[in-house]
Amino acid sequence: MKLTNILPFVAVVAALPAASNDVVPRASISKVDGLKFNIDGVTKYYAGTNSYWIPFLTNDNDVDTIMSHLKTSGHKILRIWGFNDAKSNPGGNTVYFQLFSGTSATINTGANGLQRLDAVVKAAEKHGIKLIINFVNNWTDYGGMAAYFSACGVTSNAQWYAAAKCQTMYQNYVKTVVNRYRTSTAVFAWELANEPRCNGCATSVLTAWVRKTSDYVRSLDADHMITLGDEGFGLAGDGSYPYQFSEGLDFAANLALPNISFGTFHLYPSAWGVSNDFGNGWVQAHAKVCQQVGKPCLFEEYGVTDKAQHCSVESGWQKTSLGLKDAGMAGDTFWQLGDTANGQKTHDDGHTIYYGSSDWTCLVTDHIKRIG
Ligand SMILES: *[C@@H]1O[C@H](CO)[C@@H](O)[C@H](O)[C@H]1NC(C)=O
Ligand SMILES: *[C@@H]1O[C@H](CO)[C@@H](O)[C@H](O)[C@H]1NC(C)=O
Repeated sequence: MKLTNILPFVAVVAALPAASNDVVPRASISKVDGLKFNIDGVTKYYAGTNSYWIPFLTNDNDVDTIMSHLKTSGHKILRIWGFNDAKSNPGGNTVYFQLFSGTSATINTGANGLQRLDAVVKAAEKHGIKLIINFVNNWTDYGGMAAYFSACGVTSNAQWYAAAKCQTMYQNYVKTVVNRYRTSTAVFAWELANEPRCNGCATSVLTAWVRKTSDYVRSLDADHMITLGDEGFGLAGDGSYPYQFSEGLDFAANLALPNISFGTFHLYPSAWGVSNDFGNGWVQAHAKVCQQVGKPCLFEEYGVTDKAQHCSVESGWQKTSLGLKDAGMAGDTFWQLGDTANGQKTHDDGHTIYYGSSDWTCLVTDHIKRIG
């Protein structure tokens, strides 16, 4: 079922599995409404940001304060890592969510495990922030697919997508997380992976995996949106590297899958060997596909490496995206949020926009005003 076609309250409740006692109030579920998102009953263009690190903080007050900053700034969507895959126990109270050892995986539900994600979900509920919760990384940061490799008997991401044992382990993790927050109104969407790629593979490999995985998530949760978390590669455009299908992605084919609710794409011109000006066409090209497929697009990560250009270049992309709010673009979430935690500034990877800075005024305060 496409969440676009939300039925009246009674009909939807009747359609839920008979055994479901945990019915979530429909009005508070974030959902697709045409080519836009509806959050807490309001359909419009939405803005937000990314914080891969917030579930790894160990102090609840920090988490709460940061969420309150997002709220007062007018942000609604926060994308986070819902994974932290370790190959050895980091020790102390260092946070990890899943530990691979030998041929098995153990999910850490302890105080330095999923209880940290609980704190994020709780603070998001309190401040009305909606979370995109991601299940696994393509890259090795915080483990990623590579953390599964030796336990499930593969040596590459390409094999990981198709190997039964890897997928059983991954689905077990997905199920644990989805069941934990299944009834939370703070869930914006479940996200299958961060920047999944399958270099040199036929695009059918990833499309088959996206279909299988999105169907699986839908079998666990009839309510929340589901998205992929890809960079948006593989679509018609100027023929430069990002438009090509060589990373194993076909944007339109994956978006069209029945249990994928909306499209995601990222933008890092310097990493991709294109100019910053390339960005506007990239946003337009995705909006066009989203319009054709009939599902909203989220401009999910974007950044320039030159700090002096954060405001000028990124606000230009924001304006392009917002300008397409009636033509496929439903929101944008820049990479990445910066704030203070544990008395220190959070991770500065060169793309960080700190709360209270002049770049924050430019990319958050002014953008939120324009959105209205
Ligand atoms: C992520 O995907 C790309 C393309 O397939 C690959 O080159 C890279 O190694 C992947 N990351 C890992 C950790 O395998
Ligand atoms: C979506 O997923 C559900 C649950 O797995 C499945 O029953 C349904 O067939 C899928 N939808 C479509 C249209 O394939």
